[in-house]
Amino acid sequence: MLNDISELRKQIEQDITAIASNGGPESFRLKHLVRKGTIAQLFDRLREVPKEEKREVGQALNELRTLAEGALAEAQASVAAAQPTERVDVTLPGRTLYRGHPHPIMAAKERMEEIFVRMGFAIATGPIVEDDYHNFEALNFTPDHPARDMQDTFFVKVGDRDDIVLRTHTSPVQIRVMQSQKPPIRAIMPGRVYRNEAVSARALAEFHQVEGLYIDRGVTMAQLKGTLFEFAKAYYSADVQFRFRPSYFPFTEPSAEIDISCFLCGGAGCKICKGSGWLEIGGCGMVHPNVLRNCGIDPEIYSGYAFGMGIERTEMLRMGLDDIRVLYENDVRLLEQA
Ligand code: PHE
Repeated sequence: MLNDISELRKQIEQDITAIASNGGPESFRLKHLVRKGTIAQLFDRLREVPKEEKREVGQALNELRTLAEGALAEAQASVAAAQPTERVDVTLPGRTLYRGHPHPIMAAKERMEEIFVRMGFAIATGPIVEDDYHNFEALNFTPDHPARDMQDTFFVKVGDRDDIVLRTHTSPVQIRVMQSQKPPIRAIMPGRVYRNEAVSARALAEFHQVEGLYIDRGVTMAQLKGTLFEFAKAYYSADVQFRFRPSYFPFTEPSAEIDISCFLCGGAGCKICKGSGWLEIGGCGMVHPNVLRNCGIDPEIYSGYAFGMGIERTEMLRMGLDDIRVLYENDVRLLEQA
């Protein structure tokens, strides 16, 4: 027995010197110091030792255990000391990386485009700096037409020309599309427009519109209304109410303003809709025969409808904003809602 103890002692002393490379203090503990470990096994055999030797054997075993426990404690302490004080908690959730996304106005433009493209409209664009002909004249505004006053225009000096403007609406793109394509034409024309206007909660000097144009044989105002109603249902909600209100534009006849039911009060009347229950999102009408003629399209054969909606205004109503200017302030709290 004493022999076995001294054998084990040699083994343990060896293990102590190699404790770090042999799997650390924990494997040392599991080998020697647990209930089924080497030392406990020898303790179990203490029963078989003759009475007169028990004391000596017991003492040797106790010494061995003290030695092993001491070495273990030391090894554990040095492992703990080598441990970095800051630890990585791999169970923590990761940090959110914020990715950019389109500005609400661009997101709204894309949403509108998507709805109309689904209905079969193509997307067309035209210049922002226009001439009087495309912005006014071809659209049936005569030089002294009082409707020119509806559009407060920014003029641009280009050489000695005095007919260059920042387009006041996207309707000149209608002209360019009709001049370059033959019917049937079905296109929307999104873009930036300018008006020399005081900026207010309801109006901006620089904003965006989406124009729509459909020219074919037998196009009717009922189709115009149906198309815009479907748009309103897709853009706002399936239960939106919709109406046309008679209006005037030189380039359409008959003409209408497009109203949707107020999203805030549902039509009962509130501050946003000024008590009327309705909100205006744009204008529309049947393309005036003079406009078709100006673009080389025979009004006896073809008819068409056109519409124009403000992107900011349309989106402001969807987001429930009561001031259009916040769309240009770039406050992240608003941008995040897009
Ligand atoms: N261009 C008109 C505006 O800016 C809107 C409109 C477009 C009306 C097409 C009728 C047809 O107010």
